[in-house]
This record gives sequence, C-alpha cells and structure tokens, in this order.
Amino acid sequence: MSIFGWHVGAFGGVEVMNWRELPPLVPGRGQLLVRVHASGINFAETRMRAGTYSGQELPFVMGMESAGVVEAIGPGVTGHAVGDRVFGRARGSHATHVLFDADHALPLPNNIDFVQGAAIPVGWLTAWHALVTIGRARAGERVLIEAIASSVGSAALQIAKWQGAWVAGTASRDDKCERACAAGADAAYNYKTADLAARVMHDTGGHGIDVGLMTIGEETAASLFASMAYEGRIVMYGSTGGRQVCFSLNIGTRNLQLLAMSISTSSRFLPETMQSFRKVAVPGFANGTFRAVVDKVLPMSALAEAHAMVDSRSHYGKIVLVNDL
Ligand SMILES: NC(=O)c1ccc[n+]([C@@H]2O[C@H](COP(=O)([O-])OP(=O)(O)OC[C@H]3O[C@@H](n4cnc5c(N)ncnc54)[C@H](OP(=O)(O)O)[C@@H]3O)[C@@H](O)[C@H]2O)c1
Repeated sequence: MSIFGWHVGAFGGVEVMNWRELPPLVPGRGQLLVRVHASGINFAETRMRAGTYSGQELPFVMGMESAGVVEAIGPGVTGHAVGDRVFGRARGSHATHVLFDADHALPLPNNIDFVQGAAIPVGWLTAWHALVTIGRARAGERVLIEAIASSVGSAALQIAKWQGAWVAGTASRDDKCERACAAGADAAYNYKTADLAARVMHDTGGHGIDVGLMTIGEETAASLFASMAYEGRIVMYGSTGGRQVCFSLNIGTRNLQLLAMSISTSSRFLPETMQSFRKVAVPGFANGTFRAVVDKVLPMSALAEAHAMVDSRSHYGKIVLVNDL
C-alpha cells in the first residue's frame, strides 16, 4: 500500500508543501491506521508551515485533524474495529492515511458525513475545553467570543448558546458580525471600528462579560479586560494578534481570573474534555443539536488555496479538504 501526504521539509511559503510518497505507517500500541476521507484546516497550520509555531520540528506532514475509516489496529486497542468510521485530532492528517492515537479517535455517527466529521475535532474540542472544562460557563452568564468567525469561534457560539449564555462575538469585518448574529449570537462587534467595552457595557446593562474567550491577544487585550465583569474569567487560548500583553493589576480588585490553556498540553484534556465530549457533544452532532460550520470544501490538492484563505481571513467557520489524491 502506498501512502502519500503533504510533506514539509523546510519552513517557508506554500511552495514548501509537497505531495509525495511517505514511509509506510504501521500502527503501534494504542494506535489506529486510518484512511483519510476529509481533513480540516486550522490557523496553526499556516504557522507550522512558516516556522513560527513553537515546538514544530522538521520534517513533518501537514494536517491536525481528519475523518476516515479504520484500516488497521495496533496492539492494545479496544473499542475500535477495522471498517469503523472515526474522526479526531491526528497530526499528519493531510494525507491518504494517518495514525490516530485510539484515545483521540471518536466514532463518527452514521448520519454525519466525513466533511462534517473533519470540521469538528480541533475547533470544537478547543471551544469545549475553553467553555466546559476551563471557563465553566453557566446559564445566564455573558460570554464574549473573540474572532467569532474562526472555526473555534463558530463552535464556541453554539456551545455557549447550548449552555444557556448570552453570547457576543467580535470580528474584523461587519459581514462576519452579521453572519454571527444570523447564526444566533446576541450581539457582535467589529473590533476594528467599535468601542468594545462601551458597547458591551451598554448591551449587558452595565454588567460586563463573565466569560471572555481571548484568542487575538495583544491587539485587543485592553478592550477585552475593560469589557469584563467583576469576578469574570478570561480564557486565553490564542495570540493571532500578538503575544506581548500589558495589563493593570487592578484585575485583583476586580477579582478577574486569567486562565490560559492549550488542548495539546492540558492534563485535563483527555480525562475531562474528551470524556464529556464523547458523552455529550458527539450525540449532540448525531441528533442535530450541534453542527460544524463549513465555509468551503476543497480537494486535497488545493491545500495552497486553503492556506491563502486562512491568510486572507475571509472564511467563516471551517475549510475542509476532501481526498482526491
Ligand atoms: N490553545 C489551544 O489549544 C488551541 C487549539 C486550537 C486553536 N487555537 C487557536 O485558536 C485560534 C483560532 O484558530 P482557528 O483555527 O479557529 O482559526 P481560523 O478559523 O483560521 O480563524 C482565525 C481568525 O483569527 C482572527 N485574527 C485576528 N487577528 C489575526 C491576525 N493577525 N492574523 C490572522 N487572523 C487573525 C481572524 O478573524 P477576524 O479577521 O474576524 O479577526 C481569523 O479569521 C488561533 O489563535 C489558534 O491558534 C488554540
């Protein structure tokens, strides 16, 4: 069996990604070999390719998530069988085949297609970890989602509404704000043009935000801090707009909590987030409570086009590649 994938041997522009034959993949202990039908695109991948993603080593195969069919099973794996449809996070997913850690493989419900399955893992698990495990948003609280049009943001909107929160989002363009409101947000603010704190205080009757999802960082941190309610929790999971954030320690007198997270390194991810996601969110996709927002489906061969869309910040939700190669 030949295995091909988008290989990167040097950091740089889209030209460093080459579709080429890869060494055979043999599932080790606790692993599954999965034939990839579809694979989602993530912001982090453009940084991995460029060499600005911390910890990324060379060489590597692009892709962080996929949906497909189990072709072989390594020793010690229970609960999975050859032929099962699965989805989840797996490095090297922009390929014909990928190895999944069985702990991270979720059963793909029969009524969910591979494109939906590939659109869920990274975005939804990040948003679930932020809102359910770390932020613990409760019914009636006010949640603010930075970059609500991102794949994590579009997932967070559905999760926070399901939790019973009042939900607002931010975006850099009015059309993204309109789309977020059409998708159920109670308010959305263009952070390039609006006075965020003033708008939030007006729309929450002077209360402010109980749970703020911070993903832009430097560019918008001051306005996010100013928008928070007393006792509010900021959950930081990204820094697309810069990492050097300066803030006043008056967050102490306001009793603000600043919580930082990464699903790749959190010790709470597997025992708490994956477990509750399996039990609650996966059935939610099967019964229509949740649905990943897919902006565009492209062939696997169009990876460079997908990266250009991420760079242009034009998408709303997820870009998904389907295997045509
Ligand atoms: N901590 C974790 O475990 C974890 C896991 C997964 C993802 N993440 C992070 O979550 C964030 C969203 O990821 P995603 O894959 O959902 O992203 P995405 O769909 O590609 O969307 C990213 C959005 O970020 C906004 N943005 C703000 N400043 C930007 C800048 N300087 N350059 C580019 N985009 C900028 C843009 O929306 P606007 O133009 O509307 O601002 C852009 O569309 C990223 O920061 C990612 O690293 C963290």
